[in-house]
Amino acid sequence: MARLLGQWHALPGRRRSPDYAALAAAIRGLLADGRLPLGARLPAERELAEALRISRTTVTAAYRELRDSGHLASRRGAGSWTMLPGNHRMAGNGLWTPLDDRDMLDLGVAALAAPPELLPAAQAAAEDLPRYLGGAGYHPTGISELREAVARTYSDRGLPTSPEQIMVTNGTQHALDLVLRLTHNPGGSVLVEAPSYPNALAALHARRARIATHGLAPDEPGWDADLLLGNLRQGRPKLAYLIPDFQNPTGHLMSAELRERLVATAHAVGADLVIDESFVDLSLDGTVMPPPTASFDRHSRVVTVGGMSKAYWGGLRIGWIRASAPQVQRLAAARVGVDMASPVLDQLVAVHLLAQSPTIVAARRAQLTAQRDVLLGALADRLPEWRVTVPHGGVTLWAELDGPISSALARAAEQAGVRLAPGPRFGLDGTLERFLRLPFTLPVADLVEAVDRIAAIRYDLDRVGRPGWSEPAVIA
Ligand SMILES: Cc1ncc(COP(=O)(O)O)c(C=O)c1O
Repeated sequence: MARLLGQWHALPGRRRSPDYAALAAAIRGLLADGRLPLGARLPAERELAEALRISRTTVTAAYRELRDSGHLASRRGAGSWTMLPGNHRMAGNGLWTPLDDRDMLDLGVAALAAPPELLPAAQAAAEDLPRYLGGAGYHPTGISELREAVARTYSDRGLPTSPEQIMVTNGTQHALDLVLRLTHNPGGSVLVEAPSYPNALAALHARRARIATHGLAPDEPGWDADLLLGNLRQGRPKLAYLIPDFQNPTGHLMSAELRERLVATAHAVGADLVIDESFVDLSLDGTVMPPPTASFDRHSRVVTVGGMSKAYWGGLRIGWIRASAPQVQRLAAARVGVDMASPVLDQLVAVHLLAQSPTIVAARRAQLTAQRDVLLGALADRLPEWRVTVPHGGVTLWAELDGPISSALARAAEQAGVRLAPGPRFGLDGTLERFLRLPFTLPVADLVEAVDRIAAIRYDLDRVGRPGWSEPAVIA
């Protein structure tokens, strides 16, 4: 570290600033230049002071300044490590890229660990592979056996679908990006729910969408039918991106009636609908699923994206698009300019997993129900002031806090070893500070421990004075 810092005390502008500020500036400069990586553990204050032959107070003040400016995170007993302001785990475009930190209870990611069936499915897939090795292996729309298996899942849900209507992608996020390439012109307007899934918002930003929002109520039914349809009629967006099946983050399920009216209104105003079905398999409490949104579509207005990340495993990176057969052809043409095709081996794993879907999905639902109930119990016990609407599916709940404290809480939680995704992450304009998304994807012991730590932090926030409303920060 001392070597990297080199002539820190002789940096430009040095004469005008005290030692501690110069040291902090030098460390920030190393970070900005990529010489000091993000997540690097800095030496203890005393060690650095000795190495640089300066007083410990100077190092202490420099570290404090770096913490204040968001370039350093510290946890008692664990040391200090580098970061970028605004939480470095969020790239500039809002994508969530968690670091591997084994001590951290990660409530930032709403996804389960792999099911036990995954490894045998991978082994069986390897045995199937020789069938494909005689060809080049490029299948821009996906291998036919997976397209057939996915098409069958729609037909089984009452939406007759042919394999030609399915395109396999590298996850649902990839599916969304490809659909946007095809259906959205840069600068065009898009209607989304608020709150919504942050990485979808990032994809829309990347396509330079002008985003309008329909605010969801935290309690059921979430969508206000008249306002939503009014937004479509008056705002006349070219596209709407919605998550009707256990919405992320609220967990709401859109009624059949509203689905039908939504599709009819979209058609009447000339808007395309992109429907994200990431959580469609994960209904809990025996909740009966309404028909798929696309089942009300008579005019190829609805493109559906979905995938295996939530009921099976995110690491598989298998998703898909359901659209009309000509749209799938156009998507495939767009795709070859991006990544050519999905890996054959991973698609074969997906085929084996889908063949066991009744067993796997039933186990996932049982696991999620138990974890959700433990999380609800822990919240009722430790944070009774928070209001929670019980989600009947999906993997997250959207807690209404007892003040506009979500970001402050997330910052403090990070110090206590709990990673949280605060409310504003799910919106566009720095609002939603009174909300926090809590996934129930971790094992029950971790959920209880996480709530314990959050509750302790919550009361600490009170002791040091509850932060009032501050100017909302723009999240772009
Ligand atoms: C609504 C929604 N869409 C898309 C994704 C991304 O899924 P995938 O991992 O399949 O790309 C997620 C994952 O959290 C999600 O919640």
